[in-house]
Amino acid sequence: MNKDIKAYDSVLDLIGDTPLIKLSTTTANYTGEFFAKVEAFNPGHSSKDRIALHIIEEAERKGILKPGDTIIETTSGNTGFSIAMVSRIKGYDCILAVSSKSSADKIDMLKSMGAKVYVCPAHVSADDPRSYYEVAKRLHEEIKDSIYINQYFNELNIEAHYRSTGPEIWEQTGGQITHLVACSGTGGTISGTARFLKEQNPNIEILGVDAYGSVLKKYHETKEFDSEEIYPYRIEG
Ligand SMILES: Cc1ncc(COP(=O)(O)O)c(C=O)c1O
Repeated sequence: MNKDIKAYDSVLDLIGDTPLIKLSTTTANYTGEFFAKVEAFNPGHSSKDRIALHIIEEAERKGILKPGDTIIETTSGNTGFSIAMVSRIKGYDCILAVSSKSSADKIDMLKSMGAKVYVCPAHVSADDPRSYYEVAKRLHEEIKDSIYINQYFNELNIEAHYRSTGPEIWEQTGGQITHLVACSGTGGTISGTARFLKEQNPNIEILGVDAYGSVLKKYHETKEFDSEEIYPYRIEG
């Protein structure tokens, strides 16, 4: 091989180490300095690459995953894309149970990455057999040699950010970070990153942001989940 060729062995080598970019225009009227950690620079376009790689490589390290096995997850899109990408590169089958709230283009992206996609109703309770949690659990029980990533309840989701996102931010800010602002889906990003940063400096403030209309915000405030129409789930290739 020509020694001058500068190439990565795998797209997986490009996960993490995302850039910190100074925000100037949007924060011009505020005092202080603001930076965005742009997770869209991950090859799978989001921070979910970090958890997909970490959880899958931990399963390999523990010997519970071998080539040809099946990786199953519930996902509304981004985690699925990352898991499908890592599965494809490492030689695993990937099955994703997704919410009917997911957009058609996201579902197409998952399929184009080789995943088998089950679209499940978004507004049934989590313990309903049609919910994407229950569909994923059932498939995991039925399919021999499969693992279920289960990002909402998997401590490795938090650990992935504790080991990568947190140290990167600490390093990139030269330890000068004073506040971390993060949104929350599973809570893995904010928990793992905050845990690491707080260990370095307990005075760092952690601010979680949630959107109006989010089921999490409403549940937190009222203990009620939004329920809308119930869709039958359909199986897609
Ligand atoms: C692109 C993207 N960024 C961030 C989040 C939130 O991260 P976390 O699930 O770690 O709270 C999600 C998931 O909800 C996501 O899809």
